[in-house]
Amino acid sequence: MILANDNFQQLPVSYLFSEVGRRIAEFKSRNPEAEVIRMDIGDVTLPLFPSVAKAMRDAIGELTDSATFRGYGPEQGYPFLRDAIALNDYRNRGIDISPDDIFVSDGAKSDIGNLGDIYSKECTVAVMNPSYPVYVDDSVIDGRAGDLVDGKWSRLHYLGCGPENKFLPSVPDEKVDIIFLCFPNNPTGEAIGRDDLQKWVEYARSNGSLIVFDSAYEAFVRTPDAVRSIYEIPGASEVAIEIRSFSKTAGFTGVRCGYTVVPKSIMAHYSDGSVVSLNALWNRRQTTKFNGCSYVSQKGAAAIYTPGGQHDVKAATDYYLGNAKIIKAAFEEIGFKAFGGQDSPYVWASAGDGRDSWELFGYFLHEFGFSTTPGSGFGSNGEGYVRMTGFNSRENTEKAMSRLIEKLKTHNSK
Ligand code: MLT
Repeated sequence: MILANDNFQQLPVSYLFSEVGRRIAEFKSRNPEAEVIRMDIGDVTLPLFPSVAKAMRDAIGELTDSATFRGYGPEQGYPFLRDAIALNDYRNRGIDISPDDIFVSDGAKSDIGNLGDIYSKECTVAVMNPSYPVYVDDSVIDGRAGDLVDGKWSRLHYLGCGPENKFLPSVPDEKVDIIFLCFPNNPTGEAIGRDDLQKWVEYARSNGSLIVFDSAYEAFVRTPDAVRSIYEIPGASEVAIEIRSFSKTAGFTGVRCGYTVVPKSIMAHYSDGSVVSLNALWNRRQTTKFNGCSYVSQKGAAAIYTPGGQHDVKAATDYYLGNAKIIKAAFEEIGFKAFGGQDSPYVWASAGDGRDSWELFGYFLHEFGFSTTPGSGFGSNGEGYVRMTGFNSRENTEKAMSRLIEKLKTHNSK
Protein backbone atom coordinates (compact mmCIF):
# COMPACT_ATOMS: atom_id res chain seq x y z
CA MET A 1 0.00 0.00 0.00
CA ILE A 2 1.20 3.51 -0.72
CA LEU A 3 1.38 6.23 1.88
CA ALA A 4 -1.63 8.58 1.63
CA ASN A 5 -1.49 12.37 1.92
CA ASP A 6 -1.85 12.78 5.69
CA ASN A 7 -3.32 16.23 5.21
CA PHE A 8 -6.64 14.68 4.22
CA GLN A 9 -6.92 12.99 7.58
CA GLN A 10 -7.98 16.11 9.45
CA LEU A 11 -10.22 17.55 6.73
CA PRO A 12 -13.96 17.41 7.33
CA VAL A 13 -15.17 14.12 5.80
CA SER A 14 -16.96 15.88 2.97
CA TYR A 15 -16.83 19.25 1.29
CA LEU A 16 -19.47 21.69 2.63
CA PHE A 17 -21.72 21.63 -0.42
CA SER A 18 -21.48 17.86 -0.74
CA GLU A 19 -22.66 17.54 2.86
CA VAL A 20 -25.52 19.98 2.25
CA GLY A 21 -26.50 18.00 -0.87
CA ARG A 22 -26.33 14.74 1.07
CA ARG A 23 -28.67 16.03 3.80
CA ILE A 24 -31.14 17.38 1.23
CA ALA A 25 -31.14 14.04 -0.62
CA GLU A 26 -31.72 12.22 2.67
CA PHE A 27 -34.63 14.55 3.49
CA LYS A 28 -36.14 13.97 0.04
CA SER A 29 -35.86 10.22 0.30
CA ARG A 30 -37.78 10.34 3.59
CA ASN A 31 -40.29 12.90 2.22
CA PRO A 32 -40.72 12.01 -1.47
CA GLU A 33 -43.70 14.35 -1.83
CA ALA A 34 -41.75 17.39 -0.60
CA GLU A 35 -40.81 19.94 -3.25
CA VAL A 36 -37.50 21.32 -1.98
CA ILE A 37 -36.53 24.71 -3.36
CA ARG A 38 -32.75 24.95 -3.56
CA MET A 39 -31.28 28.11 -2.10
CA ASP A 40 -28.03 26.56 -0.88
CA ILE A 41 -25.22 26.19 -3.43
CA GLY A 42 -24.81 29.13 -5.78
CA ASP A 43 -25.89 27.31 -8.90
CA VAL A 44 -27.53 29.38 -11.62
CA THR A 45 -30.91 28.64 -13.22
CA LEU A 46 -31.15 31.03 -16.20
CA PRO A 47 -30.20 29.31 -19.46
CA LEU A 48 -27.26 30.34 -21.65
CA PHE A 49 -27.70 33.65 -23.46
CA PRO A 50 -28.76 33.20 -27.12
CA SER A 51 -25.55 34.91 -28.32
CA VAL A 52 -23.43 32.55 -26.20
CA ALA A 53 -25.35 29.48 -27.38
CA LYS A 54 -24.96 30.56 -31.01
CA ALA A 55 -21.21 31.07 -30.61
CA MET A 56 -20.92 27.61 -29.05
CA ARG A 57 -22.97 26.00 -31.81
CA ASP A 58 -20.80 27.72 -34.43
CA ALA A 59 -17.70 26.47 -32.62
CA ILE A 60 -19.03 22.91 -32.68
CA GLY A 61 -19.67 23.42 -36.41
CA GLU A 62 -15.99 24.31 -36.86
CA LEU A 63 -14.90 21.27 -34.88
CA THR A 64 -17.01 18.96 -37.00
CA ASP A 65 -15.41 20.12 -40.27
CA SER A 66 -11.92 18.85 -41.05
CA ALA A 67 -11.03 22.23 -42.64
CA THR A 68 -11.65 24.09 -39.38
CA PHE A 69 -11.12 21.36 -36.80
CA ARG A 70 -8.88 22.26 -33.81
CA GLY A 71 -7.12 20.02 -31.36
CA TYR A 72 -5.13 21.30 -28.38
CA GLY A 73 -5.48 25.01 -27.85
CA PRO A 74 -3.03 27.32 -26.07
CA GLU A 75 -2.86 26.35 -22.38
CA GLN A 76 -3.21 30.03 -21.46
CA GLY A 77 -6.40 30.45 -23.48
CA TYR A 78 -7.13 31.53 -27.04
CA PRO A 79 -6.00 35.06 -27.95
CA PHE A 80 -9.53 36.01 -29.05
CA LEU A 81 -10.74 35.53 -25.46
CA ARG A 82 -7.69 36.92 -23.64
CA ASP A 83 -7.86 40.05 -25.85
CA ALA A 84 -11.59 40.48 -25.19
CA ILE A 85 -11.08 40.14 -21.42
CA ALA A 86 -8.16 42.57 -21.30
CA LEU A 87 -10.07 45.14 -23.32
CA ASN A 88 -13.52 44.89 -21.77
CA ASP A 89 -12.87 43.96 -18.16
CA TYR A 90 -9.77 46.11 -17.69
CA ARG A 91 -8.57 48.56 -20.34
CA ASN A 92 -11.98 50.04 -21.05
CA ARG A 93 -12.24 50.62 -17.30
CA GLY A 94 -8.88 52.42 -17.17
CA ILE A 95 -6.91 49.43 -15.79
CA ASP A 96 -3.63 48.45 -17.38
CA ILE A 97 -3.84 44.66 -17.73
CA SER A 98 -2.54 43.02 -20.88
CA PRO A 99 -3.71 39.78 -22.55
CA ASP A 100 -0.56 37.94 -21.47
CA ASP A 101 -1.34 38.67 -17.81
CA ILE A 102 -4.56 36.65 -18.31
CA PHE A 103 -4.88 32.87 -18.09
CA VAL A 104 -8.18 31.34 -19.13
CA SER A 105 -9.24 28.45 -16.92
CA ASP A 106 -12.06 26.01 -16.33
CA GLY A 107 -13.31 28.11 -13.42
CA ALA A 108 -12.36 29.94 -10.26
CA LYS A 109 -12.50 26.98 -7.88
CA SER A 110 -9.79 25.00 -9.66
CA ASP A 111 -7.49 28.00 -9.95
CA ILE A 112 -7.82 28.87 -6.26
CA GLY A 113 -6.41 25.45 -5.40
CA ASN A 114 -3.95 25.22 -8.29
CA LEU A 115 -2.29 28.52 -7.37
CA GLY A 116 -0.92 26.74 -4.32
CA ASP A 117 1.63 25.13 -6.67
CA ILE A 118 3.47 28.40 -7.25
CA TYR A 119 4.11 29.61 -3.73
CA SER A 120 6.13 27.85 -1.06
CA LYS A 121 4.66 25.29 1.31
CA GLU A 122 6.19 27.47 4.04
CA CYS A 123 4.00 30.46 3.18
CA THR A 124 1.55 31.51 5.86
CA VAL A 125 -2.06 31.98 4.78
CA ALA A 126 -4.82 34.32 5.94
CA VAL A 127 -8.50 33.73 5.27
CA MET A 128 -11.55 35.75 6.13
CA ASN A 129 -13.74 34.16 8.80
CA PRO A 130 -16.30 33.34 7.42
CA SER A 131 -14.99 32.49 3.96
CA TYR A 132 -15.59 30.26 0.93
CA PRO A 133 -14.37 26.90 2.26
CA VAL A 134 -12.11 26.17 -0.71
CA TYR A 135 -9.38 28.55 0.57
CA VAL A 136 -9.18 26.64 3.83
CA ASP A 137 -9.57 23.12 2.47
CA ASP A 138 -6.92 23.72 -0.22
CA SER A 139 -4.53 25.08 2.40
CA VAL A 140 -5.12 21.94 4.44
CA ILE A 141 -4.56 19.60 1.48
CA ASP A 142 -1.36 21.45 0.58
CA GLY A 143 -0.08 21.26 4.16
CA ARG A 144 -0.13 24.97 4.93
CA ALA A 145 -2.88 24.92 7.56
CA GLY A 146 -1.22 23.07 10.44
CA ASP A 147 -3.42 21.14 12.87
CA LEU A 148 -7.08 21.46 13.70
CA VAL A 149 -7.34 22.69 17.28
CA ASP A 150 -10.76 23.61 18.73
CA GLY A 151 -12.19 24.04 15.25
CA LYS A 152 -9.39 26.29 13.97
CA TRP A 153 -6.30 25.49 11.91
CA SER A 154 -3.15 26.29 13.86
CA ARG A 155 -1.17 27.85 10.99
CA LEU A 156 -4.00 29.82 9.39
CA HIS A 157 -4.60 33.47 10.21
CA TYR A 158 -8.28 34.18 10.58
CA LEU A 159 -9.52 37.63 9.60
CA GLY A 160 -12.62 38.02 11.71
CA CYS A 161 -15.67 39.49 9.97
CA GLY A 162 -19.01 40.28 11.52
CA PRO A 163 -21.62 43.01 11.77
CA GLU A 164 -19.29 44.92 14.14
CA ASN A 165 -16.80 45.58 11.30
CA LYS A 166 -19.39 45.51 8.49
CA PHE A 167 -17.85 42.19 7.43
CA LEU A 168 -14.66 43.98 6.36
CA PRO A 169 -11.54 42.43 7.86
CA SER A 170 -8.73 44.50 9.37
CA VAL A 171 -5.15 44.03 8.20
CA PRO A 172 -3.17 41.76 10.55
CA ASP A 173 -0.62 43.12 13.01
CA GLU A 174 1.94 40.57 11.86
CA LYS A 175 3.20 39.55 8.45
CA VAL A 176 1.15 36.98 6.53
CA ASP A 177 2.36 35.76 3.12
CA ILE A 178 -0.79 34.82 1.24
CA ILE A 179 -4.09 36.58 1.87
CA PHE A 180 -7.35 35.36 0.36
CA LEU A 181 -9.85 38.16 -0.04
CA CYS A 182 -13.22 37.74 -1.74
CA PHE A 183 -15.36 40.73 -2.74
CA PRO A 184 -18.26 40.96 -3.26
CA ASN A 185 -18.01 38.40 -0.52
CA ASN A 186 -19.11 34.84 -0.49
CA PRO A 187 -20.82 34.09 1.91
CA THR A 188 -21.72 37.43 3.51
CA GLY A 189 -22.70 39.16 0.28
CA GLU A 190 -20.98 42.40 1.32
CA ALA A 191 -18.83 44.44 -1.09
CA ILE A 192 -15.68 46.46 -0.29
CA GLY A 193 -15.03 50.14 -1.05
CA ARG A 194 -11.81 51.51 -2.53
CA ASP A 195 -10.50 53.06 0.68
CA ASP A 196 -10.85 49.80 2.58
CA LEU A 197 -9.19 47.73 -0.12
CA GLN A 198 -6.42 50.32 -0.43
CA LYS A 199 -5.36 49.41 3.13
CA TRP A 200 -4.87 45.80 2.04
CA VAL A 201 -2.81 46.74 -0.99
CA GLU A 202 -0.62 48.96 1.20
CA TYR A 203 -0.28 46.12 3.73
CA ALA A 204 0.76 43.66 1.00
CA ARG A 205 3.23 46.12 -0.48
CA SER A 206 4.89 46.86 2.85
CA ASN A 207 5.00 43.22 4.00
CA GLY A 208 5.90 41.50 0.73
CA SER A 209 2.59 39.60 0.81
CA LEU A 210 0.49 38.28 -2.03
CA ILE A 211 -3.26 38.93 -2.17
CA VAL A 212 -5.37 36.35 -3.98
CA PHE A 213 -8.44 38.42 -4.82
CA ASP A 214 -11.49 36.37 -5.70
CA SER A 215 -13.84 38.62 -7.63
CA ALA A 216 -16.10 35.93 -9.05
CA TYR A 217 -19.13 38.09 -8.20
CA GLU A 218 -17.90 41.44 -9.55
CA ALA A 219 -20.68 41.66 -12.17
CA PHE A 220 -23.19 42.00 -9.32
CA VAL A 221 -21.66 45.22 -7.98
CA ARG A 222 -24.12 48.12 -8.13
CA THR A 223 -22.86 50.46 -5.37
CA PRO A 224 -20.77 53.11 -7.15
CA ASP A 225 -17.80 53.05 -4.76
CA ALA A 226 -17.66 49.26 -4.44
CA VAL A 227 -14.63 47.61 -6.01
CA ARG A 228 -15.00 45.29 -9.00
CA SER A 229 -11.31 44.67 -9.59
CA ILE A 230 -8.43 44.95 -7.13
CA TYR A 231 -6.43 46.57 -9.93
CA GLU A 232 -8.59 49.67 -9.47
CA ILE A 233 -6.28 50.26 -6.50
CA PRO A 234 -2.93 51.82 -7.45
CA GLY A 235 0.00 49.45 -6.89
CA ALA A 236 -2.17 46.31 -6.74
CA SER A 237 -0.72 44.83 -9.90
CA GLU A 238 2.55 44.23 -8.03
CA VAL A 239 0.96 42.33 -5.15
CA ALA A 240 -2.33 40.80 -6.27
CA ILE A 241 -3.62 37.94 -8.37
CA GLU A 242 -7.28 38.24 -9.40
CA ILE A 243 -9.61 35.32 -10.03
CA ARG A 244 -12.79 35.61 -12.06
CA SER A 245 -15.47 33.32 -13.35
CA PHE A 246 -18.21 33.31 -15.99
CA SER A 247 -20.21 30.83 -13.90
CA LYS A 248 -22.50 33.19 -12.05
CA THR A 249 -22.65 36.00 -14.58
CA ALA A 250 -23.35 34.05 -17.76
CA GLY A 251 -24.67 30.66 -16.71
CA PHE A 252 -21.35 28.82 -16.98
CA THR A 253 -21.52 26.68 -13.83
CA GLY A 254 -21.88 23.63 -16.06
CA VAL A 255 -20.09 24.91 -19.17
CA ARG A 256 -16.97 25.84 -17.16
CA CYS A 257 -14.83 28.86 -18.01
CA GLY A 258 -13.15 31.56 -15.96
CA TYR A 259 -9.80 33.28 -15.80
CA THR A 260 -7.00 34.32 -13.50
CA VAL A 261 -4.92 37.47 -13.83
CA VAL A 262 -1.30 37.12 -12.80
CA PRO A 263 0.34 40.43 -13.73
CA LYS A 264 3.93 40.14 -14.91
CA SER A 265 4.90 42.75 -12.33
CA ILE A 266 4.37 40.41 -9.34
CA MET A 267 7.78 39.12 -8.27
CA ALA A 268 8.66 36.37 -5.82
CA HIS A 269 11.96 34.90 -4.69
CA TYR A 270 13.29 31.37 -4.33
CA SER A 271 14.92 30.28 -1.10
CA ASP A 272 18.35 30.98 -2.67
CA GLY A 273 17.30 34.61 -3.07
CA SER A 274 16.94 34.61 -6.85
CA VAL A 275 13.94 36.49 -8.15
CA VAL A 276 11.21 35.15 -10.43
CA SER A 277 7.94 36.48 -11.78
CA LEU A 278 4.80 34.66 -10.63
CA ASN A 279 3.41 35.04 -14.14
CA ALA A 280 6.30 32.90 -15.44
CA LEU A 281 5.72 30.29 -12.73
CA TRP A 282 1.98 30.15 -13.35
CA ASN A 283 2.62 29.82 -17.07
CA ARG A 284 5.02 26.94 -16.37
CA ARG A 285 2.50 25.33 -14.04
CA GLN A 286 -0.40 25.65 -16.47
CA THR A 287 1.55 24.42 -19.51
CA THR A 288 2.56 21.35 -17.48
CA LYS A 289 -0.65 20.48 -15.67
CA PHE A 290 -3.45 21.99 -17.79
CA ASN A 291 -4.42 21.66 -21.43
CA GLY A 292 -6.71 24.64 -21.54
CA CYS A 293 -10.44 25.14 -21.38
CA SER A 294 -12.41 23.79 -24.34
CA TYR A 295 -12.58 25.82 -27.56
CA VAL A 296 -16.39 25.65 -27.44
CA SER A 297 -16.52 27.11 -23.91
CA GLN A 298 -14.04 29.85 -24.82
CA LYS A 299 -16.02 30.80 -27.93
CA GLY A 300 -19.13 31.01 -25.75
CA ALA A 301 -17.28 33.13 -23.21
CA ALA A 302 -16.04 35.53 -25.91
CA ALA A 303 -19.66 36.16 -26.94
CA ILE A 304 -20.29 37.59 -23.46
CA TYR A 305 -18.15 40.55 -24.50
CA THR A 306 -20.30 41.52 -27.48
CA PRO A 307 -22.76 44.38 -26.83
CA GLY A 308 -25.63 41.84 -26.76
CA GLY A 309 -23.70 39.63 -24.33
CA GLN A 310 -22.98 42.56 -22.01
CA HIS A 311 -26.64 43.52 -22.05
CA ASP A 312 -27.57 39.94 -21.15
CA VAL A 313 -25.05 39.86 -18.24
CA LYS A 314 -26.61 42.99 -16.82
CA ALA A 315 -30.14 41.56 -17.22
CA ALA A 316 -29.21 38.20 -15.64
CA THR A 317 -27.38 39.74 -12.69
CA ASP A 318 -30.26 42.21 -12.17
CA TYR A 319 -32.66 39.26 -12.10
CA TYR A 320 -30.63 37.37 -9.47
CA LEU A 321 -30.19 40.56 -7.43
CA GLY A 322 -33.97 40.99 -7.58
CA ASN A 323 -34.33 37.52 -6.04
CA ALA A 324 -31.78 38.36 -3.36
CA LYS A 325 -33.80 41.46 -2.48
CA ILE A 326 -36.95 39.36 -2.04
CA ILE A 327 -35.08 36.91 0.21
CA LYS A 328 -33.54 39.65 2.31
CA ALA A 329 -36.88 41.40 2.80
CA ALA A 330 -38.54 38.12 3.84
CA PHE A 331 -35.84 37.30 6.36
CA GLU A 332 -36.04 40.79 7.80
CA GLU A 333 -39.80 40.42 8.03
CA ILE A 334 -39.44 37.29 10.16
CA GLY A 335 -37.06 39.14 12.47
CA PHE A 336 -33.69 37.91 11.25
CA LYS A 337 -30.73 40.24 10.80
CA ALA A 338 -29.93 40.02 7.10
CA PHE A 339 -26.88 41.24 5.18
CA GLY A 340 -25.63 41.29 1.59
CA GLY A 341 -27.93 40.99 -1.40
CA GLN A 342 -27.14 44.51 -2.60
CA ASP A 343 -23.97 43.89 -4.64
CA SER A 344 -24.12 40.13 -4.52
CA PRO A 345 -26.53 37.25 -5.06
CA TYR A 346 -25.98 36.05 -1.48
CA VAL A 347 -28.02 36.92 1.61
CA TRP A 348 -26.45 36.17 4.98
CA ALA A 349 -28.87 36.00 7.87
CA SER A 350 -28.92 35.22 11.56
CA ALA A 351 -31.78 34.70 13.99
CA GLY A 352 -29.58 35.83 16.88
CA ASP A 353 -31.51 33.57 19.25
CA GLY A 354 -28.86 30.95 19.94
CA ARG A 355 -29.95 28.49 17.25
CA ASP A 356 -26.89 27.13 15.45
CA SER A 357 -26.47 27.03 11.69
CA TRP A 358 -27.30 23.35 11.13
CA GLU A 359 -30.36 23.74 13.33
CA LEU A 360 -31.51 26.63 11.15
CA PHE A 361 -30.71 24.62 8.02
CA GLY A 362 -32.96 21.80 9.32
CA TYR A 363 -35.68 24.25 10.35
CA PHE A 364 -35.99 25.87 6.92
CA LEU A 365 -35.77 22.54 5.12
CA HIS A 366 -38.30 20.69 7.29
CA GLU A 367 -40.75 23.50 8.02
CA PHE A 368 -40.72 25.47 4.76
CA GLY A 369 -39.16 23.14 2.17
CA PHE A 370 -36.24 25.28 1.08
CA SER A 371 -32.55 24.67 1.53
CA THR A 372 -29.93 27.07 2.85
CA THR A 373 -26.21 26.75 3.45
CA PRO A 374 -25.27 26.63 7.13
CA GLY A 375 -23.03 29.56 7.97
CA SER A 376 -20.79 27.48 10.24
CA GLY A 377 -19.57 25.67 7.11
CA PHE A 378 -17.82 28.92 6.16
CA GLY A 379 -15.96 29.26 9.45
CA SER A 380 -16.56 29.72 13.16
CA ASN A 381 -17.79 33.29 12.72
CA GLY A 382 -20.55 31.91 10.50
CA GLU A 383 -22.11 29.99 13.38
CA GLY A 384 -25.72 31.04 13.89
CA TYR A 385 -26.03 32.23 10.27
CA VAL A 386 -27.44 30.71 7.11
CA ARG A 387 -26.68 31.77 3.56
CA MET A 388 -29.32 31.92 0.86
CA THR A 389 -28.70 32.44 -2.85
CA GLY A 390 -30.71 34.45 -5.32
CA PHE A 391 -29.90 32.00 -8.12
CA ASN A 392 -33.17 30.12 -8.23
CA SER A 393 -35.97 31.28 -10.53
CA ARG A 394 -38.11 34.26 -9.50
CA GLU A 395 -41.09 31.96 -9.23
CA ASN A 396 -39.33 29.55 -6.86
CA THR A 397 -37.80 32.36 -4.83
CA GLU A 398 -41.21 33.94 -4.33
CA LYS A 399 -42.74 30.57 -3.55
CA ALA A 400 -40.11 29.74 -0.91
CA MET A 401 -40.36 33.15 0.74
CA SER A 402 -44.14 33.19 0.76
CA ARG A 403 -44.14 29.72 2.37
CA LEU A 404 -41.96 31.26 5.07
CA ILE A 405 -44.00 34.39 5.64
CA GLU A 406 -47.43 32.80 5.34
CA LYS A 407 -46.70 29.85 7.60
CA LEU A 408 -45.15 32.05 10.26
CA LYS A 409 -48.07 34.50 10.08
CA THR A 410 -50.54 31.65 10.54
CA HIS A 411 -48.46 30.24 13.36
CA ASN A 412 -48.20 33.62 15.13
CA SER A 413 -51.90 34.36 14.80
CA LYS A 414 -52.81 31.11 16.61
C1 MLT B 1 -21.19 28.66 -3.56
O1 MLT B 1 -22.36 28.32 -3.43
O2 MLT B 1 -20.51 29.16 -2.67
C2 MLT B 1 -20.58 28.45 -4.90
O3 MLT B 1 -21.51 28.06 -5.84
C3 MLT B 1 -19.58 27.43 -4.84
C4 MLT B 1 -18.69 27.48 -6.02
O4 MLT B 1 -18.75 28.40 -6.84
O5 MLT B 1 -17.88 26.58 -6.11
